[in-house]
Amino acid sequence: METVLSGIRSTGNLHLGNYFGAIKNFIKMQHEHRCFFFIADYHSLTTHPTPADLHQNVKQVLVEYLAAGIDPEIATLYIQSDVPEVAELYLLLGMNAYMGELERCTTFKEKARKQPDNINAGLLTYPVLMAADILIHKANKVPVGKDQEQHLEMARTFGNRFNRLYKADYFPEPYAFNFGSDLVKIPGLDGSTKMGKSEGEANAIYLADEPSVIRKKVMRAVTDSGPVEMNQVKPQPIENLFNIMKVVSSEDTVKHFDELYNKCEIRYGDMKKQLAEDIIGFTSPLRERIVEIGADNAYLSRVAKMGAEKARESASKTVKEVREIIGFKPF
Ligand code: TYM
Repeated sequence: METVLSGIRSTGNLHLGNYFGAIKNFIKMQHEHRCFFFIADYHSLTTHPTPADLHQNVKQVLVEYLAAGIDPEIATLYIQSDVPEVAELYLLLGMNAYMGELERCTTFKEKARKQPDNINAGLLTYPVLMAADILIHKANKVPVGKDQEQHLEMARTFGNRFNRLYKADYFPEPYAFNFGSDLVKIPGLDGSTKMGKSEGEANAIYLADEPSVIRKKVMRAVTDSGPVEMNQVKPQPIENLFNIMKVVSSEDTVKHFDELYNKCEIRYGDMKKQLAEDIIGFTSPLRERIVEIGADNAYLSRVAKMGAEKARESASKTVKEVREIIGFKPF
């Protein structure tokens, strides 16, 4: 049996990218493996949410995980800050993480560009905390989207470095995972290559969006004036729409619009209408469960408590062993 772990930052509602990049795989894996799924609320502090928003953001992700089909009785579903052992492992791993490699990390460079007034140490050491999340349960499979690949490479580096430094064959090597297929990257509706939480209103479709909102967003998606040559290569925004269609629509639907595109007969309005309805068909049952579960605070509190207990049991065992390997001894 493999140990699987993955997380999502609590920085807002989940979107189609989160679902198809990560959550879909969580649901598939929970019955076959030892699974840990968590809400990365420590990580969310790099962008300084206000105390008034923090809890609601965590709750929203917890609700959406459950609505998507994670079974908290089977998988261990927990909130990162409920497991303080993670913070200790983060501190210990940080001693073997080098400034140069952290500064070269693509996501750090991107964040530093996006928030030049808030380049905090947490942003720089983000991959160390993520490595602690993964290594604390000695996970070897990490279902994530393509954007997390470099972070996984760093987690392997830190784990291997620890093993070498202390001459211990302790941490396994974690790998990004998508059932043997390439990692997924769901594009945005605004012509950009990635759907993301911080990319602006016109970019992402959220699982909790109302049908009217979905229709509006899809109808406004960026397109061009249409193909002018038979079988021409699709420009990015058009390719994006097809790629979103591939995950929510039937193969026949995609084929139909692809053929129209190749014959220069496509009407983007028709394609968008179909795409919006297929997204709504996919998200509606989810949205209904989100509303239902979101109203059940007693259930959520039970889930969080149970998750914290299970996660701490596994995490405290690792931290105890790591302390011994490093050489800490009780007096
Ligand atoms: P986050 O919160 O940015 O995204 C959560 C998950 O969703 C995936 N994802 C996407 N996949 C495909 N297409 C997209 N457009 C798209 N947008 C997001 C991400 O790849 C991710 O799998 N650092 C992580 C959270 C984290 C974590 C961990 C993950 C903290 N510790 C340990 C795994 C293991 C993050 O910011 O994800």
